[in-house]
Amino acid sequence: MTKEDRYTAALREIDVRLQKGGDLIADLGNTAAVLKKRLQYFWTGFYLIKGNRLVLGPFQGTPACVFLPLGGGVCGTCAANRETMLVPDVGKFPGHIVCDTNSKSELCVPLFDGSGSVRAVLDMDSEFLDAFDGTDVKYCERLAARLTGMW
Ligand code: SME
Repeated sequence: MTKEDRYTAALREIDVRLQKGGDLIADLGNTAAVLKKRLQYFWTGFYLIKGNRLVLGPFQGTPACVFLPLGGGVCGTCAANRETMLVPDVGKFPGHIVCDTNSKSELCVPLFDGSGSVRAVLDMDSEFLDAFDGTDVKYCERLAARLTGMW
């Protein structure tokens, strides 16, 4: 099964799981679970923006940092700059925040509300260097667009 196939299956399953006018935490929880099951990355989850920091949201994987600074680390930079961050080697990313030393590469995608404000980020970590590519970016940004209606 190619990565494309895995994402296609994941997005289809997430679509079925997402409730219209549903509950944010429940929907993010199911989304994290489907991504973990289909893509099998080491960590898949969400951080929610609350004030000037990011707070750990629903996730699948090992326990993670609870608070991250807006503008710092991979997730905080993604949220502050409003753009996807693809980090092939977290050891080379200045200010990378280590939640689990097994994480070697990372992808972080901003989630916007209907008026264009960043409300959360989708974060995925792999225990392998250079695990993420354009296919991950394409489908995770598509998923992020699908989640816009949640706020
Ligand atoms: N490495 C991230 C922190 C979050 S975890 O990887 C789950 C960062 O630098 O923002």
